[in-house]
Amino acid sequence: MEQIMILNGSPRAPKSNSKRYAKIFRQYCKMDTAYFDISKSNHLSLCSEMERFSKLLLVFPLYADGIPVTLLDFLKTLEQNPPPKKPSVSVLINCGFLESGQNDVAVDMVRLFCRKNGYPFGCVLKIGSGEAILDTPFRILAIRKIKALSKGVQKGEHKAFKVSMPLSRKMFIKASTSYWIRYGQKNNVTREQMATLNIEDQ
Ligand SMILES: Cc1cc2nc3c(=O)[nH]c(=O)nc-3n(C[C@H](O)[C@H](O)[C@H](O)COP(=O)(O)O)c2cc1C
Repeated sequence: MEQIMILNGSPRAPKSNSKRYAKIFRQYCKMDTAYFDISKSNHLSLCSEMERFSKLLLVFPLYADGIPVTLLDFLKTLEQNPPPKKPSVSVLINCGFLESGQNDVAVDMVRLFCRKNGYPFGCVLKIGSGEAILDTPFRILAIRKIKALSKGVQKGEHKAFKVSMPLSRKMFIKASTSYWIRYGQKNNVTREQMATLNIEDQ
């Protein structure tokens, strides 16, 4: 029986938004799914697991306008250790900025990997405002598109979907700025500290 392998490529996979998106995908998917976080130590076992699946869904965030290193490193291992029969690859990507189009380059990176390595490309869902949307009333818009993605993946279609919060950029920046300032306050970090490159050392 056909099954979908779901790989979470977020560097913070166990606590990630990607994990929440994958959970919703699984809720609406009628086919059997198996979910795995990509970690530093499980690349080879994921590569050998992959032969059981006809479809692969990569769920990951946009990091610095590209794919996060967690996923990049895994793809390098997969390139050297491909499964005997290659599954079709679909993508569910989310980014922090409002515009879902911010994800385009990262999706192209996965497409290029697929083209170079002989994996059929399936469907893609690009989520903008992905850090926030699930905790707002606009959640329903994201769920609708994840449902559509799951249908597309199951039917073996080649469809592209996108979703974001229906806000103006100005409103989004205002709302997200006050969210991050409050978040900083909760953790005793000021707005000024957040604006420095030293924040990682705190
Ligand atoms: C190091 C880092 C780099 C990021 N780079 C971008 C970016 O270039 N564009 C963007 O829209 N969001 C960016 N984000 C925001 C993430 O894509 C966003 O928070 C996402 O919801 C994280 O998903 P995850 O919880 O599944 O990792 C970045 C976040 C981090 C931590």
